[in-house]
Amino acid sequence: MGKKGGTAVEPRPFIGRVFLSAEKKEVNMIDIEIDLQKEQQAALESLERVESPEALDTWKQAHLGKSSLVMTTFGKMGSFSKVERPQVGRAVNQVKVALENAYALKEETIRRKALLSAMASEKLDVTLPGYPVQRGRMHPVNLLMREIYRIFGDMGFQVYRSPEVETDDMNFTYLNIPPYHPARDMWDTFYTEDEGVVLRTHTSPGQIRSMRDYYPNPVRVILPGACMRYEQQDQSHEIEFMQFELLVVDKGVTFANLKGTMDDFTKRMFGPGAHTRLRPSHFPFTEPSAELDMACIFCGGVGCGVCHGTGWIELGGCGMVHPRVLKYGGYDPEVYSGFAAGVGIDRTTLLRYHIDDIRYLRNNDIRFLEQF
Ligand code: PHE
Repeated sequence: MGKKGGTAVEPRPFIGRVFLSAEKKEVNMIDIEIDLQKEQQAALESLERVESPEALDTWKQAHLGKSSLVMTTFGKMGSFSKVERPQVGRAVNQVKVALENAYALKEETIRRKALLSAMASEKLDVTLPGYPVQRGRMHPVNLLMREIYRIFGDMGFQVYRSPEVETDDMNFTYLNIPPYHPARDMWDTFYTEDEGVVLRTHTSPGQIRSMRDYYPNPVRVILPGACMRYEQQDQSHEIEFMQFELLVVDKGVTFANLKGTMDDFTKRMFGPGAHTRLRPSHFPFTEPSAELDMACIFCGGVGCGVCHGTGWIELGGCGMVHPRVLKYGGYDPEVYSGFAAGVGIDRTTLLRYHIDDIRYLRNNDIRFLEQF
């Protein structure tokens, strides 16, 4: 500071900056504090008049936003001296906290008001119908399966589950079909890469499993489930299909028991008018063996397309359990006897619901499945 043309140096104008003299400094501090006080008062007053969330936002911008007095004062902190800094800081902080608290209170009030008015204007009409729930339904094969369980449940049979992936021994050998025996050609089997493991071609292996499980008690079980055969698919052939097997083992079980049970089942399933016959046949695991036929329910036995003009529809195979199979199951054929039957559920489903192609059952077409 020197002399310039004899004029004394003008004191620098006040721009919020602190002057060196102790007196000036006092004045400046008071100025800032007064400004902040005024700002607080003005802000709180204008907050009183705020009614909407939008107005609240604008208020926040003005009084707590980047260019508000509070924030710009914070920004200038570095320009105050060491002595002033804490003092200014405290003052501006007090204002900031006061404004923030007032803001929070107001925000809550406005939020409640908005909620109450929404509740008043958008009343819930509980008489309006709800959105319909998309409900699934039972597959026709499962519907029939449950009906079959009920029928045999009434006759005292228990459901027995056995594996769909079987050993070659269970599927064939223990059913009196030794390896390399031509009788194996009756079943077009899926062999797996594991030696001796096959996809079961029928539910009959469950005979051995249930006998071994029940021995020495009497057996009266129904064995349901999927079977697989390597077949050319057409209207009445599928590579996967459902069967149920019946097995009864006890002392004194006769062919008459078999005949009565199968006839009773058919009547319960297709109505009291249904009648059956047993036609001599051959299965390696039953002796004697028979096919269970039902008089065609479409033509009454006269002959039509469904029964291929024969008047009869084949439901499944059956017979008296072969002594060798009883032995494989653990029962002494001199003491025990039994009957077994195997019925295809898919074909029964076709008959029951008048469906003309077995492939509908597994191609998952909603339009088809919705009908049941
Ligand atoms: N398992 C035979 C088949 O699927 C059916 C059958 C079962 C025959 C039980 C007799 C006794 O071909």
